[in-house]
Amino acid sequence: MVTADWLDIGPVDQLPALGARTLAVQGGEEIAIFRTANGDIYALRNACPHKKGPLSQGIVHDTSVTCPLHNWRISLVTGEALGGDKGCVPTIPVKVDGGRILIHRGHVLAGVA
Ligand code: FES
Repeated sequence: MVTADWLDIGPVDQLPALGARTLAVQGGEEIAIFRTANGDIYALRNACPHKKGPLSQGIVHDTSVTCPLHNWRISLVTGEALGGDKGCVPTIPVKVDGGRILIHRGHVLAGVA
């Protein structure tokens, strides 16, 4: 169900498995929304914790994404860099309801910096 707290950003079917899309938010940042192979949806700030690489252009594996710039792996669940790398990017609350992707509205309006 869509409530005042959640923003409907479109049908989940338009986001292919292992794909990503972006959503611009206030302050000039972007949210990257990912779909895993098993259909789970995650959202992160679209800026790698290393040097702000566009994570939406990375490769999704299981529940992580590999940054397209220098190959850090970032957890889609926690936003933390994996392996020996250190850093974290904010995660954004997201859910699927009735086949629609819903993003927590407060994070869209307030920005994700
Ligand atoms: S900017 Fe992502 S690994 Fe360097």
